[in-house]
Amino acid sequence: MNERIIPIADARYNAGTPSVPADPDPATGRLADAHGRMLRDLRISVTDRCNFRCSYCMPPAVFDRNFQFLPHSSLLSFEEIARMARIFAGHGVEKIRITGGEPLLRRNIEALIGMLAEIRGVQDRPLEITLTTNASLLARKAGALAAAGLRRVTVSLDALDDGVFRAMNSADFPVADVLAGIDAAATAGLRSIKINMVVKRGVNDQEIVPMARHFRGTGHIVRFIEFMDVGASNGWRLDDVVPSAEVIARISEHFPLDPVAPQYPGEVAARWRYADGSGEIGVISSVSRPFCSSCNRARLSTEGKLFTCLFATSGHDLRALLRGGYSDQQISGAIAQLWGQRTDRYSEIRSEATSGLRRIEMSYIGG
Ligand code: GTP
Ligand code: 5AD
Ligand code: SF4
Ligand code: SF4
Repeated sequence: MNERIIPIADARYNAGTPSVPADPDPATGRLADAHGRMLRDLRISVTDRCNFRCSYCMPPAVFDRNFQFLPHSSLLSFEEIARMARIFAGHGVEKIRITGGEPLLRRNIEALIGMLAEIRGVQDRPLEITLTTNASLLARKAGALAAAGLRRVTVSLDALDDGVFRAMNSADFPVADVLAGIDAAATAGLRSIKINMVVKRGVNDQEIVPMARHFRGTGHIVRFIEFMDVGASNGWRLDDVVPSAEVIARISEHFPLDPVAPQYPGEVAARWRYADGSGEIGVISSVSRPFCSSCNRARLSTEGKLFTCLFATSGHDLRALLRGGYSDQQISGAIAQLWGQRTDRYSEIRSEATSGLRRIEMSYIGG
């Protein structure tokens, strides 16, 4: 008998229906949580599917042929996503990141980008819209995305060595095609392209220096990310983490680096510049130096659940409000209450006590 329990899609993570205030105040463009952290960044997952199976995110043994992804009827429509984005913009959100799974798998994603590009935030400013992709479809899509109003893109790439990369993505996908996607994005006019590399000791740490060398002088910014204990299926062990201090030391042996001040408060990556002026890199140290104290990020899942931390175990079902006949002002008031109660700071309190919990998967909520 097959004893594997396949979660029913909609019941995958616990998410209560938020309470709606009787007489909500209009949004002021400034929303602080219980620790005084302002809401600025909204990450929207548009699909829980991916054509890669990176071991640190969707290990193939778990995300196999039997895995049940969300049915199409569960997903927020583009109209629903744009409505949510408008409500969040009223609360002071300035940046929207489209994520997945792999967001370019969602059909006609450029239409959503076009809808988001029209939204105006506080003081009538356009939102900064960006997208995180594995670049497998980027060469094909970059032109349409740029034309729709996308200005920036972040590409995941974990190695330059083709064999190492093919093994890590478990899809036998070649490095050359990712590099072609990055070139197409630059040609289409997408700017400040970032390359995210998750570093796992003994798997791809030998690729740190080659990645730095390859992208020096291109204008693209590589960010070296500490392997995190997100989700419940990637078999995380502290021994697999290469601390950012070690990444900096290894690169500095070849290319001297100087620290750079953050570009904005709450920036996730610590920035470093090549002393010879050939560009910059970033390190993201969520394990060795957590950055919860300035965390301004909210996350909306593919099925419209709001999560206020990447490591949350439960969310808030905003889709129930969207489809329940509530007005924008009522939904806005419900969001204000939720954010006001937020106390999350998982990375700062990571411990034995938190390790056994059934946390959301990165492929479900996005990066
Ligand atoms: P830009 O500054 O807009 O380029 O993006 P960003 O710095 O917000 O970074 P990005 O969205 O590319 O995130 C890079 C990686 O940092 C993610 O894939 C995660 O691994 C990690 N990360 C991002 N946000 C958080 C967070 O809120 N908590 C933790 N623990 N890790 C995060
Ligand atoms: N640790 C760190 N980053 C991760 N990502 C996914 N899983 C992990 C993990 N376990 C991030 C990577 C990838 C993005 C989609 O999500 O940055 O580029
Ligand atoms: Fe897909 Fe990105 Fe996760 Fe890799 S890290 S499995 S490309 S969503
Ligand atoms: Fe924010 Fe949670 Fe990440 Fe801390 S662990 S930075 S609170 S998302």
